[in-house]
Amino acid sequence: PRVVKLAVIPGDGIGPEVIAEAEKVLDAVTAGGDVVFEKTRFSLGAGRYLETGDTLTDDDLDAIKAHDAILLGAVGGTPGDPRLAGANIERGLLLKLRFALDHYVNLRPSKLYPGQDGPLAEPGDIDFVVVREGTEGPYVGNGGSIRQGTPHEVANETSVNTAFGVERVVRYAFALAERRSRRLTLVHKTNVLVNAGRLWQRIVDEVAREHPDVAVDYLHVDAATIFLVTNPGRFDVIVTDNLFGDILTDLAGAVTGGIGLAASGNINPDGDFPSMFEPVHGSAPDIAGTQQADPTAAIGSIALLLDHLGLQDAADRVSRAIEDDIAARTGEKRSTAEIGDAIASRLKA
Ligand code: NAD
Ligand code: IPM
Ligand code: MN
Repeated sequence: PRVVKLAVIPGDGIGPEVIAEAEKVLDAVTAGGDVVFEKTRFSLGAGRYLETGDTLTDDDLDAIKAHDAILLGAVGGTPGDPRLAGANIERGLLLKLRFALDHYVNLRPSKLYPGQDGPLAEPGDIDFVVVREGTEGPYVGNGGSIRQGTPHEVANETSVNTAFGVERVVRYAFALAERRSRRLTLVHKTNVLVNAGRLWQRIVDEVAREHPDVAVDYLHVDAATIFLVTNPGRFDVIVTDNLFGDILTDLAGAVTGGIGLAASGNINPDGDFPSMFEPVHGSAPDIAGTQQADPTAAIGSIALLLDHLGLQDAADRVSRAIEDDIAARTGEKRSTAEIGDAIASRLKA
């Protein structure tokens, strides 16, 4: 059998709760098949930091790199927890993984499933993918501050945008648009962030010439938030900067029925490093431990993982099980495990 080495990082808060359900579904869809997932569990996150003081050691990183893919729940403690002051689990763990493993495509599909209620009265057909740049922009963390704590403090966060980094993610987005409805929207803020904006627009214009059948348009990020609410059906592929993509995809999750449904993949398309699959949401300290978290996003991340590994049939079966489960939802509240069991049992039938 083909063996896939999967690193599993359940993380903090609702992370372990939703990952337990994702693993149930992965086990169900691979049962009796000719692909075997060999899982290694990594205890990383705020919990680990509080116990040992470590966020992500070089040994952790080397061990994770030796896997074919990564499944991550969510990391991060309760905002404001004084014991985490001075630590930054998000930067030191999650972003460190995305940067070290060159996850330059952060793939975040958004779909309003049949039967799914959302906040919009007339949602129309919502089915788009945000291709969020994953290794540059304001996330690089090479800012700094001076005169800290004084009335004259100056705090800088520098957004880094390279032609190399922008071109590779833009090329990925165009290739994806070719396989979808052939519409691509660049979202940026070129009217204010003129340097980065000029670079993004130039590269989109250049790559667009190689894809004459893809209809290209541009929106400023503020206007994009309007259309995500008033006419989300206009979008097919959105390509955007790391920070804009972060914000747009929480909004996209909300308009398609809730952040508990939004899956994502941090992809290294070149295959030099393992790609990492995770829900878009965080550790949700407000509902952690209550079995109120919706595991659908984590389960949808399994579908993205299987697709990335070339296991299309298994990926489609998981997507269909999710879709069928959503269509059958009656509005009655189910626990995290009940939703996971229901989706997993559709795969055993
Ligand atoms: P969050 O996504 O954790 O929570 C925002 C709101 O959405 C909360 O009310 C929460 O209860 C709800 N929610 C989230 N996931 C849900 C689910 N599956 N089902 C039902 N409701 C759900 O965002 P936050 O509160 O801004 O962040 C909490 C912590 O998580 C912070 O430490 C943050 O840095 C971290 N975070 C981590 C990741 C990650 O690991 N990928 C992503 C986002 C935030
Ligand atoms: C996400 C999260 C992360 C991000 C944080 C926790 C670093 O919000 O995955 O969307 O901003 O990318
Ligand atoms: Mn986010």
